Amino acid sequence: MIKLPGLIDPHVHMREPGATHKEDFDSGTSAALAGGFTIVLTMPNTKPPIFDAETLDMALDAASLKARCDYAQFVGAGPNNAEKAASLADKAAGLKMYLDSTFGELRLDDMTLWQPHFEKYPKQYPIVAHSESRSMAAAILFAAIYDRPVHIAHISLKEEVQIIKAAKERGIKVTCEVCPHHLFLYEDLTGFGNLSGLTAGRKEVRPRLAEKEDVDTLWANLNVIDCFATDHAPHTIEEKDSDNPPPGFPGLETALPLLLTAVSESRLTIPDLIEKMYTNPKKIFNLPDQPETWVEVDENAIYEIKAEDQFTRCNWTPFESWQVKGKVRKVVLRGETAFEDGKILVNAGYGKNIRS
Ligand code: NCD
Ligand code: ZN
Repeated sequence: MIKLPGLIDPHVHMREPGATHKEDFDSGTSAALAGGFTIVLTMPNTKPPIFDAETLDMALDAASLKARCDYAQFVGAGPNNAEKAASLADKAAGLKMYLDSTFGELRLDDMTLWQPHFEKYPKQYPIVAHSESRSMAAAILFAAIYDRPVHIAHISLKEEVQIIKAAKERGIKVTCEVCPHHLFLYEDLTGFGNLSGLTAGRKEVRPRLAEKEDVDTLWANLNVIDCFATDHAPHTIEEKDSDNPPPGFPGLETALPLLLTAVSESRLTIPDLIEKMYTNPKKIFNLPDQPETWVEVDENAIYEIKAEDQFTRCNWTPFESWQVKGKVRKVVLRGETAFEDGKILVNAGYGKNIRS
């Protein structure tokens, strides 16, 4: 049995308000606990998007009634809310900027709209950029110009990890995260495990799955990557198999087992895992201690991932039938056993807003 700290997932889509048939704070935080996470930072591309005091309260009210693990909510950067968003910084996880292809309404293509956000958002809180390739390079340039930190969400490409490495070496305040699906799946989906039968809609995700060379470069440069984040982006199996499939993969319940499997294959170490799922996100996102909080993992348990065993409401996983080694047995959150042997043991509403 291995004991880990309560893990932090800095990139989760809870779908509340507006799309609770995909997920809500109850099902999503249950999935988080089952996956070994005790803090989730939730994204603002909901319906309506979270971009001002009123919409932030909508999300936080729902979370305070339903969440079973601790959380904080991002505010989204819109075309004219830089001042408002900055004024909400103490209550928010951080500022999320959608600078590239994504799901939802929050997207800023025009760089003149980025400027006020980089100028105004308080430097002690993170700006998280959803940016890819050249837009990522542009986001890093903004961090350099305004001398403030930027955290790059879900990197997936060789060129991205190379630029981030170079920027870090020059003292630019950039950090980044990678998602398990970008470490375990290639574009042709011939990564290990049985992926036959994954329909075109189920392969849709932003950033898109990359090529083997990209994946290999990410693994070879794990020292450049600060955090593992799931980008848990649940859409129902019916939506994924429809003619117009939305992009996104669920990930809360598969991240730790996949990464523990990599540990069992000596591709990663437990200290790496703790650094990227606890120490670094805690520092980057300025998160508090959670006293009497830990996760117990059976590192020798071998089992198959099954959507039917999951708490997420979306009812599917891209890792269906993958054999993994490493299972979450128990999660203790602030002195209470929150999860044990497949069961959630704390009530909806037990989770706390870590920014309140
Ligand atoms: C995310 C979603 O569904 O909200 N989808 C995705 O493919 N990652 C949006 C996003 O993070 O871009
Ligand atoms: Zn996302």
